[in-house]
Amino acid sequence: MMPFTYFQPTEIRFGAGRVADTGAAAARFGRRCLIVTVPVFPALGPVLEKVQASLQAAGLAVAHFDGVVPNPTTDVISAGARLAREFKADVVLGLGGGSSLDTAKAVAVEATHDGSCWDYLFFKPAQPTEKTLPVVAVTTTSGTGSHVTQVAVVTNPREKNKSALYHPRIYPRVGIVDPELMVTAPKHVTATTGFDVLAHAFESYINPGGSPYTDMMAVEAMRIVAGRLPAAVANGADLAARTDMAWADTLGGLCIANAGVTLPHGIGMAMSGLYPHVAHGEALACIYPAILRFSWDAALAKFAAFARIFDPALERLDDRAAAERSGDAVEAFLDRIGLRICLRDLRIPENELAALARASLVLPDYKNHPRVAAVDDVHALLMRSVGNGPGASRP
Ligand SMILES: [Fe+2]
Repeated sequence: MMPFTYFQPTEIRFGAGRVADTGAAAARFGRRCLIVTVPVFPALGPVLEKVQASLQAAGLAVAHFDGVVPNPTTDVISAGARLAREFKADVVLGLGGGSSLDTAKAVAVEATHDGSCWDYLFFKPAQPTEKTLPVVAVTTTSGTGSHVTQVAVVTNPREKNKSALYHPRIYPRVGIVDPELMVTAPKHVTATTGFDVLAHAFESYINPGGSPYTDMMAVEAMRIVAGRLPAAVANGADLAARTDMAWADTLGGLCIANAGVTLPHGIGMAMSGLYPHVAHGEALACIYPAILRFSWDAALAKFAAFARIFDPALERLDDRAAAERSGDAVEAFLDRIGLRICLRDLRIPENELAALARASLVLPDYKNHPRVAAVDDVHALLMRSVGNGPGASRP
């Protein structure tokens, strides 16, 4: 076995009703808590009330920043950081999906450091210090895994660019995973965030940065998504399916925190950087079949294992034959969860795909894909994802 390192500092409090732990969890880090959410909508209201009640019962003073947007921008983060400073927050509590949790992490950095969070991106010389405020993450989707990762994805609208803070200091100190908070997530959100879970698990599984530890979690996460995401999509109130997906999301987060993502996330990040109306999971769903068909023969055993999770009939075939069908397997699964979409559905113009291909290779993740793509390969993959008729994504 190859040597490996595994690190995970987040305390995970998992299970129905655990939102009641929020106050006790946050009180460990001080007396003043800034809650970070999107603007309150009907389903969020009762959840927010539970969190506020728990914080107040634990004796914390509470302020609320409700300016989070999907694909959080540097402007939004600056507004949140301003409020954190004015309120003299001791702890930042992200409540919601990945956008809210990532915003909370970036606010925790910007509120305590000079300049903007954009100055502390993963590749820049300045990095978050010990001054970074502690973050508590209460996740309401399954999900981006953000409640257990050291990543905060941010978009700079002036540079039309999406990048990330990536540092151990921004791991949430506590991640609260209460499946009861997830039963109101709409079908499309459930499908797109659930597909993101699958992408985290699979890309960690094929990543050279993976380990026996992350492989074990990745296989379990993929197995759960294959078996349970359709039930969560079909009936959002199915608490057992929501619980299983929350666990898969947590496993996927633990995987990416230690192994990392590959080419699909590179393209997906570029896509929602250039086209902020595209949800992260939508971007992944529309390119996955073409990417699997581009790279299945570069890691036969792992692509075969992936395909067999979705189609147990492939157990009868050897690895090469099973791996070759991984694109078909994921396409059939996307059909089942109502997410068989293409670039045309996402209103991404064909004449801008060359620019999108170039932007897809800005982040280094693509280099960890088993078949490393050149810009022309990515362009060809995108062209094959424009439509999704029969055989559209085949080379
Ligand atoms: Fe993701």
